[in-house]
Amino acid sequence: MKPLKIAVIGLQFGMAHIEGAMHYGAEIAAICDCNEDHLRAAGERYGIPEEKRFADHRALLARGDIDAAVIAVPDQQHRELTCAFLAAGKHVLCEKPMALTREDTRAMIRAADESGRQLMVGQICRFTPAFEKAKALIDDGTLGDLYFVESEYAHDYMKLVDNWRSDPLRHGVIGGGCHAVDLLRWLAGEPREVFAYGTHRLLPQVPYDDATVAVMKFDDKTMGKVFVSTGCKRDYTMRTVIYGTKGTLICDNTSPAMTLFTVDEDGVTREPETIEVEVNNHNAAREFEAFADAILHGKPVLTDVREGARTVAACLAIIESSRTGKPVRPDYSF
Ligand SMILES: NC(=O)c1ccc[n+]([C@@H]2O[C@H](COP(=O)([O-])OP(=O)(O)OC[C@H]3O[C@@H](n4cnc5c(N)ncnc54)[C@H](O)[C@@H]3O)[C@@H](O)[C@H]2O)c1
Repeated sequence: MKPLKIAVIGLQFGMAHIEGAMHYGAEIAAICDCNEDHLRAAGERYGIPEEKRFADHRALLARGDIDAAVIAVPDQQHRELTCAFLAAGKHVLCEKPMALTREDTRAMIRAADESGRQLMVGQICRFTPAFEKAKALIDDGTLGDLYFVESEYAHDYMKLVDNWRSDPLRHGVIGGGCHAVDLLRWLAGEPREVFAYGTHRLLPQVPYDDATVAVMKFDDKTMGKVFVSTGCKRDYTMRTVIYGTKGTLICDNTSPAMTLFTVDEDGVTREPETIEVEVNNHNAAREFEAFADAILHGKPVLTDVREGARTVAACLAIIESSRTGKPVRPDYSF
């Protein structure tokens, strides 16, 4: 089978995708960045010759030697670039969050449907080893029925927000918090209602709250909580706790150890068990593998365009609730 020919657009976090694609054995047919220095640096780092380096993504659209594009430019441009590549007949792996507005998510769904190509959204936490293990322990019944799930996204953006991240549309809940929201959606299902509070204490340079807590109702028996802090004074974490009727799991994408509590035949809690796990919170290799398998082997992707859009809808509901002080039911109709 011929290797997939990939273009990577946006060469900061996009470099992780170059590595993911190379790890899979794909061919890097083109790299693109409007910043000359970033383009040169990535080209030199990965040995990509000058004729495969581009400053404008539009130069790539008509090329027959590109099967798929990875879009890793600022969130505000995801719609424009994704729709352009889909319309040009290319498959697209678009970074999270898929979009910052409902209007953009709708346009991207339409573009994906009309193109018949894959549009996968890079919700990379679904490929984090600890969270994959958590999902397996839920699916095999070890934890019983879930009644409470919580995840936090705490990431100090102090040095990261002097740019497109300070756009009011790029609220921390959707920008980074979408990881925790997407994770809980994957583990516990669709939040039907959310209620949130926010506070703005640590990042005066952004026009939105830098900490938000949201409680969620999934179904009649399952509740959840997300905490997002983008001004926190600590190292990055996505501490996640999953409470079920037969056990509890405590894990984190930055820890090599997960703690599992289970019960004996009398329902008494056993001593905790430690599960060792690889720390890999940006598992771009596994993510690219899923994308390539969808293109080459027709395998379904976990985070297709509608999954990406539903995570956006849940994040937007949290932001709305924190602003209005009222519970909000996420609108999953697109
Ligand atoms: N999955 C994750 O955990 C993760 C982590 C970091 C960033 N991201 C996402 O990846 C995307 C990029 O984030 P980043 O941290 O690399 O941002 P960044 O601002 O550090 O880098 C963006 C790069 O894109 C280039 N660029 C901007 N507009 C362009 C255009 N129209 N054409 C070509 N190049 C363009 C810039 O010159 C820059 O090199 C964002 O959507 C972000 O949310 C995801």
